[in-house]
Amino acid sequence: MSVSLVTVSYLGATILFILSLGGLSNPETAKRGNWYGVIGMAIAVGATIFGLRVFGLGEAPIVTPSGYGYVAAAMAVGATVGLILAYKVRMTQMPELVAIMHSLVGLAACTIGYASYIDTSIKFTGAEHVIHEMEIYVGVLIGAITFTGSVIAFGKLSGKIGGKPMLLPLRHWINLLGLLVVIWFGYQFVQAAEISNQNAAIATGWVPLIVMTIIALLFGIHMVMAIGGADMPVVISMLNSYSGWAAAATGFMLSNDLLIVVGALVGSSGAILSYIMCRGMNRNFISVIAGGFGTGEGMAAKKADGGPQGEVNPISAAETAELLKEAKNVIIVPGYGMAVAQAQHSVYEITKALREKGVNVRFGIHPVAGRMPGHMNVLLAEAKVPYDIVLEMDELNDDFPDTDVAMVIGANDIVNPAAQEDPTSPIAGMPVLEVWKAKTSIVMKRSMASGYAGIDNPLFYKENNRMLFGDAKKMLDEVLAALRA
Ligand code: TAP
Repeated sequence: MSVSLVTVSYLGATILFILSLGGLSNPETAKRGNWYGVIGMAIAVGATIFGLRVFGLGEAPIVTPSGYGYVAAAMAVGATVGLILAYKVRMTQMPELVAIMHSLVGLAACTIGYASYIDTSIKFTGAEHVIHEMEIYVGVLIGAITFTGSVIAFGKLSGKIGGKPMLLPLRHWINLLGLLVVIWFGYQFVQAAEISNQNAAIATGWVPLIVMTIIALLFGIHMVMAIGGADMPVVISMLNSYSGWAAAATGFMLSNDLLIVVGALVGSSGAILSYIMCRGMNRNFISVIAGGFGTGEGMAAKKADGGPQGEVNPISAAETAELLKEAKNVIIVPGYGMAVAQAQHSVYEITKALREKGVNVRFGIHPVAGRMPGHMNVLLAEAKVPYDIVLEMDELNDDFPDTDVAMVIGANDIVNPAAQEDPTSPIAGMPVLEVWKAKTSIVMKRSMASGYAGIDNPLFYKENNRMLFGDAKKMLDEVLAALRA
C-alpha cells in the first residue's frame, strides 16, 4: 500500500469517526453513527496493517512476512473475545465492560511505551530524541494510571470491590509527593536521552521509567479507591478520556497521525461527557477526583436516630391501573430498576394502551438515570417507545404540577426531593425530577432500600406518594392486565 493511499485511508477513517460521534449523540441517528465507527475502524486497521510501518514499504518492516501469522492470530483472538462479550454482556453490565476495555488501552500504551524505549531501529537525534523520550514518559504515565484506575473501577462497578471510598490519612499529600517524584524522575529520564552512547542512555533511563511506572500504577489504584459509589459514572467517563489521551500519546510514540487524532477525539469527548455528568449530579470535577463522596448501595433508608422515616402508602397494581385510566397527563420516570427488571417492553405496552385511551404519556429522563449515559434512552428505543415522547429532565420538570400521575419505575436518587429540601444531604443541589409535584406519584420498587448513592428518599413518605412494591416487570405486567381488563 503506498504512502499516499495510507494517508487518504487515515483521513477517511478520521472523518468517519467524527461522523460517528455526531451520529451517536441522537437516538435516531445512533445506529448510523455506530456503522460509521465500524467502517472507520475497519479502514484504520486495514491501512495500518498493510501500511508503511508494518508492511515495510521503503524501510525495514516491523513485522516480517512470517510475522503476519502472529498478527492474524492476535486479531482472531481479539475478535472472538469481543464477539462473545458483545453477545453475552447484559445492558446493566455495560459500564463494567467499558471500564475493563479502558484498562486494555492503558496497558497497550504502557507496553508500546516500553517497546518504543528499547527499539533502536529508528534513530533519533538531538531535540527529536528528547521529544521522543518525553512522549514515552508521558504515554507510559497516562497509560499506567488508566490501567490500574480502570481495573479498580471495574471491580467497584461489578461489586467485587466495595463502593465505599477508601480514604487514607494525608491522601492528598501522598498524591502530591507522588507527583513531585514523577516530575523529578521525568527530568532524570530526559537527561539520560542526552548520553551519546545509545546503550548507555537506555540503561540509565530504566530506573526513572520503572519507578515512575510503579508510582503511576499505585496512583491509579489510590485515585479510584478514594472515589465513592455515587461518583463512579464520572470516573468511568474520566477514565474514558484518559484512555483517549493514552492512545494519543501512543500515536506520538509511533508517529501515527490517526492514533493522535482518534485519541484526541476520545480524550476530549470523554472530558466533555465528564463535565456534563458533573453538571447533572451538581458535582464539581475537582471534588469528584478528590474523592470521598458516596457509599455502597442497597441499604435501607433510615432516619438519623436509625428508625424508619415515617409511614408509606402502598398501592396495588389494580389501583395503579385505575389511577392511570382516569389520568389525562402521565409522566413516566424510568431508572436503574427498570433496566434490572428488563421492564422496558412492558412499559411500552402500557404506554401504547394508555395512548389509545387518549392519555398524554411522556417520559422524563435524568442525565444520570441508570448506570451509564443514555442508559434509559437505549432501553426505551429498544422497546420502540417513540422518540418524541421521551424528554430530557429540563424539558418537562416544570410540567409536574399539571400532571395527574408521575410513575417512577425503579428510580430512586434521581427523584429524591432531599436534593432540594435538605441542604445537609450528600446530594444537595443535584438536579432531580420533581415527581412529588404531580397530583399523585407512584414509586415502583421492590423494597425500601436506598439507591446508588445509599441515601434516604423522603419522597416515599409524602402524602401524595404511593408505593407499588415488587419487581418492576412483574408489577407492570399486572398493571397492564388490569388496564386491558
Ligand atoms: P438508583 O438510585 O440506583 O435506584 C434504583 C432503584 O431501583 C433502587 O432503589 C432499587 O430499589 C430499584 N430496583 C432494583 N431492582 C429492581 C427491580 N427488579 N424492580 C424494581 N425496582 C428495582 O437508580 P436511579 O434513580 O436510576 O439513579 C441512578 C444513580 O446511579 C445515581 O445515583 C447516579 O449517580 C448513579 N450512577 C449513574 C450512572 C449513569 S452515567 N447513569 C452510572 C453509575 C452510577 P429496590 O432494591 O427496593 O427494588
